[in-house]
Amino acid sequence: MTSTSDTTILIFGASGDLTSRKLIPALFRLSQQQYLSPRCPVVGVARRPKSHDEFRTEMRDKVKARLGNDQFDAAAWDIFAKQLFYQQLDITNAEEYATLKESVQTLETQVGAGSDSARIVYLATTPDLIASAVEGLHASQMIPPRELESQLRVVVEKPFGRDLKSAQELTVVLSRHLQESQIYRIDHYLGKETVQNILLFRFGNAIFEPLLNRNHIDHIQITVAEALGMEGSRGGYYDTSGAMRDVLQNHVLQLLCLIAMDPPSLFQAREIRDEKMKVLQALRPGVSGPVGNWAIRGQYTAGLVDRQPALAYREEDRVNPNSNRETFVAMRVALDNWRWAGVPFFLRTGKRLPKQMTEIAIQFKNPPLNLFSTVECDGDLCDLVETRPNQLILRIQPQEAISLRFSTKRPGMNYQVQPVSMDFEYGDHFTTQLPEAYERLLLDVMRGDSTLFTRSDELEAAWRFVTPVLDAWESSSSSPDLYPAGTWGPSSADRLISETKAIWRAPR
Ligand SMILES: NC(=O)c1ccc[n+]([C@@H]2O[C@H](COP(=O)([O-])OP(=O)(O)OC[C@H]3O[C@@H](n4cnc5c(N)ncnc54)[C@H](OP(=O)(O)O)[C@@H]3O)[C@@H](O)[C@H]2O)c1
Repeated sequence: MTSTSDTTILIFGASGDLTSRKLIPALFRLSQQQYLSPRCPVVGVARRPKSHDEFRTEMRDKVKARLGNDQFDAAAWDIFAKQLFYQQLDITNAEEYATLKESVQTLETQVGAGSDSARIVYLATTPDLIASAVEGLHASQMIPPRELESQLRVVVEKPFGRDLKSAQELTVVLSRHLQESQIYRIDHYLGKETVQNILLFRFGNAIFEPLLNRNHIDHIQITVAEALGMEGSRGGYYDTSGAMRDVLQNHVLQLLCLIAMDPPSLFQAREIRDEKMKVLQALRPGVSGPVGNWAIRGQYTAGLVDRQPALAYREEDRVNPNSNRETFVAMRVALDNWRWAGVPFFLRTGKRLPKQMTEIAIQFKNPPLNLFSTVECDGDLCDLVETRPNQLILRIQPQEAISLRFSTKRPGMNYQVQPVSMDFEYGDHFTTQLPEAYERLLLDVMRGDSTLFTRSDELEAAWRFVTPVLDAWESSSSSPDLYPAGTWGPSSADRLISETKAIWRAPR
């Protein structure tokens, strides 16, 4: 196991939720696995006054509470805590950056970091602070000259804008003093092991890839379902954002890119992102006409999720009681390229659906001639049903798995087809725990590998596609279609897909 070369990690927004829930636990795990060298200081930065020890204790308590007493390795924490520091800074006050720079240099000397060590600035703060942070780093000469650009990497958290215009403005702000290669826009979905496996599964096997095109595929469904609603104070943020900005524009379109892209010539950041970019450039509405023909929005009403009563969205804490914010989106889209012309892609995401689940379902065309009757059986009781097409399901989370549904002869004196499924479950084959997305992504930033991060042109292409839909919804006098919490969305989503005689998968 190799640790990274010396890197100082500055977390701006160190008293926030993301830092204690994701970033520090991920860095702790990397330290435990010896991926994080003890010569890499991790410096929490925020406005509140705090000593190093106070910060360490606060982080320890939160990580311990998260892991539980029996999972928390106190000895390993004591080792990690030695490289954990805190520095007070108001990001908006350019004068305070000189002190930050000085303290960081002192800490680097203290832990014995090499003179050529790199720095990572992780902006775990709201987007309105990004401009001040970049200006402050520039004014204090913490941004190295161009020839040494790899010595500074800046990680930016979503949201990357709320429409095309604001995303472009953010790119201008970042690129004022930073090179694109120094900017790491994090979409934690890409850090998930099973998301990375999409490319490996497609391009590391010869079996499936030749079939993934318009000649063999009937349609593809991508679902990112959440059972949760507006827990805690999330309603305030969500009511300004919604399912399109929060999930579809980023996670769902990234999954679409990975399942639809052509093989890159090299498995490297630029080549992979170039292929993803071509998918986004080919992205079109699935049918012509107004937005309502191919994109629908929904909002949950009261219902039952996992047999527990759930409030209507408009009754949730910090949500406007007249809100028209969408908590569900379904879309029919198409890709105008040779591989996928004519193949519908159905995308959906929503809150308060029956379960938390992310999957990509690839449905194959039916055999050209149907020679057999198909049955579905419960023990010895069988019913004749319509032919069930082959399906390849990539389950991203939870119960990470890949399964292939195909037809087989039901044992007996008749030629009857019964659909069966061949399943691969990660849990059955690998005993190692799947790494958390943030672990992988932080390690990649330390290694200077930007493959799993979103480039500015990808980001803009995604916004260019969804912004007209958001504009149409915002200028419309109609409300989102309602669905009871605990169901798979409004009936308009079923109509959207049934026009092609397909149906949404409703995984159990
Ligand atoms: N939480 C998540 O799970 C999650 C997931 C995905 C993306 N994100 C994104 O990550 C970012 C941070 O989210 P969060 O939930 O951690 O936010 P948060 O809990 O509100 O934390 C914000 C942090 O910023 C600091 N801060 C605010 N103004 C500052 C200033 N002028 N100077 C220095 N520090 C300042 C605050 O500390 P002080 O008050 O002490 O200064 C606090 O540490 C957001 O952009 C969010 O959209 C979060």
